[in-house]
Amino acid sequence: MSQKISGVKGMNDILPGEVEIWQFVERTARELFARFGYGEVRTPMVEDTALFVRSVGEETDIVGKEMYTFEDKGGRSLSLRPEGTAPAARAYIEHSVVNQEPLTRWYYLGPMFRYERMKTGRYRQFHQIGAEAYGSREPAQDVELMDMVVQLLQKLGLTEVSLNINSLGDEACRPTYQAKLVEHLRGHAGELCGDCQRRLESNPLRVLDCKVERCQQIAQAAPSILESLCEPCRAHFDEVQRKLTALDIRFQVNPRIMRGLDYYTRTAFEFIAAHPALGTASTVGGGGRYDKLVKGLGGPDVPAVGFGLGLDRLCLLLKESGQKFAAPVDLFVAVADAGSSDVAFSLVSRLRREGLVVEFDTRGGSLKSQMKRADKTGARFALVLGEAERESGQAQLKPMAGGEPISVRLDEVARVVREAPSR
Ligand code: HAM
Repeated sequence: MSQKISGVKGMNDILPGEVEIWQFVERTARELFARFGYGEVRTPMVEDTALFVRSVGEETDIVGKEMYTFEDKGGRSLSLRPEGTAPAARAYIEHSVVNQEPLTRWYYLGPMFRYERMKTGRYRQFHQIGAEAYGSREPAQDVELMDMVVQLLQKLGLTEVSLNINSLGDEACRPTYQAKLVEHLRGHAGELCGDCQRRLESNPLRVLDCKVERCQQIAQAAPSILESLCEPCRAHFDEVQRKLTALDIRFQVNPRIMRGLDYYTRTAFEFIAAHPALGTASTVGGGGRYDKLVKGLGGPDVPAVGFGLGLDRLCLLLKESGQKFAAPVDLFVAVADAGSSDVAFSLVSRLRREGLVVEFDTRGGSLKSQMKRADKTGARFALVLGEAERESGQAQLKPMAGGEPISVRLDEVARVVREAPSR
């Protein structure tokens, strides 16, 4: 016997039955984001490794430990994208989009790859719905994006999600904070993990999102970044809060939100759902402002802000909600005798063309087994086609949930099914 080959660890198949939840979220996001004026961008799944090293940052867990990096046959170092912000910024620069429109709003949807330790809600291939807005320095842009997430969560029926916001300062005030942080961390240098001892010198902010427990305890006691903000960063953060309040969006200021990626300046935010279905993977989305990234990647001096939502996690939450997502089957057509199968097959084809969701058993089989299958599909109606129906051009629509059969002409089936009240 041949040996069975399994899927790659941490990379999931999404089968019919579950995929409808994904399609629902994707459809809802696409419709909503279009209302906000965001257009879809599709970038490749693979990029030059240097793109992520220079944007997400060498000292982050994402780049330092979790990237799927390989050499292609031409000797180039490539990586599967671990996130969507850097690829979108690369495309924005490469296509000189700033010359076409000064305020650009993009969204994307697709798989990302991180070699992470797996658990509920944390995978090695996962999916993000993200959005990025380029060209506006204003707090209104930050809040527009948060509003878009809030409206999406509402439309999905996910109301138990809280918004946490923070400011990470900018090049004027971050060094002051960094100095205070280093002073605090130096006091515990011997207790930090090996990575963090290195980060203490190269990128001390990244110590704050280390996953090692002792490092987390030390980070908890670190000074708050909010106390070090310069006046313009403080004013920006105040205005973000004022605008959120004006839109009736509930939020919490949380100085511990550091985001784990290097490119952020000023506003940072996370959407957190404390739900058992997610285990400890409770962050359903995060984002923030990154005013220096586009220029840092060789592009124009254009400010930007965006977010990424974990689609896998949203779907886990929706699965728990007990809602039904699959399109209901309108009709099951069963064949009573072999002589009717061609007519039944044509009828099914025509009804599908007319827009009905029709189930039909191509294997034929006994009427009893077909009716059993009709039951299983959850079809609203069943129609049995035999010699009598063929000859009269008339059949009975049997409501599967009970009730009187409806007599119908074969060329009227689609209309009658569509007009029949659903129970
Ligand atoms: P991130 O916080 O690294 O941000 O990821 C965003 C979301 O993706 C997380 O909140 C989480 O829901 C989901 N996610 C991340 N890793 C995994 C995983 N291994 N398994 C399942 N879900 C995961 C970013 O990626 C930024 N690019 C967001 C952004 C856009 N900032 C500005 N613009």
